[in-house]
Amino acid sequence: MTNEILLFNTNCLEVLKDLESDSVDLILTDPPYNLGNFMRDRQTNLKKMRDNFFGDAGWDDLEFDEWKKQIDDFFKEANRVLKKRGSLIMFMSIIKVESIISIASKHKFYYKTTGIWHKTNPMPRNMNLHFINSTEAWLYFINEARTGTFNNNGKAFHDFIETSGSTKSEKQYIAHPTQKPEKLFEHFVSLLTNPNDTVLDPFMGSGTSGVVTKKMGRKFIGCEINPQYFEGAKNRINQSATQLNFLDLNISEGK
Ligand SMILES: C[S@@+](CC[C@H](N)C(=O)[O-])C[C@H]1O[C@@H](n2cnc3c(N)ncnc32)[C@H](O)[C@@H]1O
Repeated sequence: MTNEILLFNTNCLEVLKDLESDSVDLILTDPPYNLGNFMRDRQTNLKKMRDNFFGDAGWDDLEFDEWKKQIDDFFKEANRVLKKRGSLIMFMSIIKVESIISIASKHKFYYKTTGIWHKTNPMPRNMNLHFINSTEAWLYFINEARTGTFNNNGKAFHDFIETSGSTKSEKQYIAHPTQKPEKLFEHFVSLLTNPNDTVLDPFMGSGTSGVVTKKMGRKFIGCEINPQYFEGAKNRINQSATQLNFLDLNISEGK
């Protein structure tokens, strides 16, 4: 790994404490939604259908008060490490949106938007019984200011984004139960950062944010607490960087 990519296999709250103040341009993250207990109480049959069901992964089943405390600790440090006018995008379950806005506001984040990601190819589970779950929310905040980088180049961007789930090649390094597609993260990195900016993902899972930021010429800091996911993410980010260098070489030779 180059020193432009820093990866930590540990609790992000420990890492955040050691990061320099005002050193990050964008926090792009997808923390546990903490729906494990909720899903278990509903006795869904997801475990039978999926080997790596997130509700059984062990990182998604805190009591609500404990989850709120961890999110609070996270936003406190996020406020310190993010530059003023830096952006924060957090994916979240729609039922937790209000809690996140209230905690983030307490730590001086200016709330901008709740947007929706629509996955075009969700698992059609119980499709004859109810609506298929195909959406997740993302929240957009600016640190201690009302506006930050927004590279729209004169185009109108809706607070709605639609993509398919992760592709087979994106999933080849690790079986992660809640992996996000690269296209989704590219959308935010291109709009909210400039080349050489620093992107932080404290809950990087399979490393999607790292792959995307590396490919787009941004610096990256990523944390993942689970050693197996961490190894997968590290290999994936490493490989994507190699592919990019190879591609760049070909392009310059062709000129
Ligand atoms: C929703 S997943 C992220 C998925 C990721 N966006 C992707 O594309 O693969 C959340 C991740 O946070 C990790 N995690 C949970 N608590 C953590 C903590 N305190 N510090 C760092 N990672 C943590 C989990 O192991 C899990 O992989």
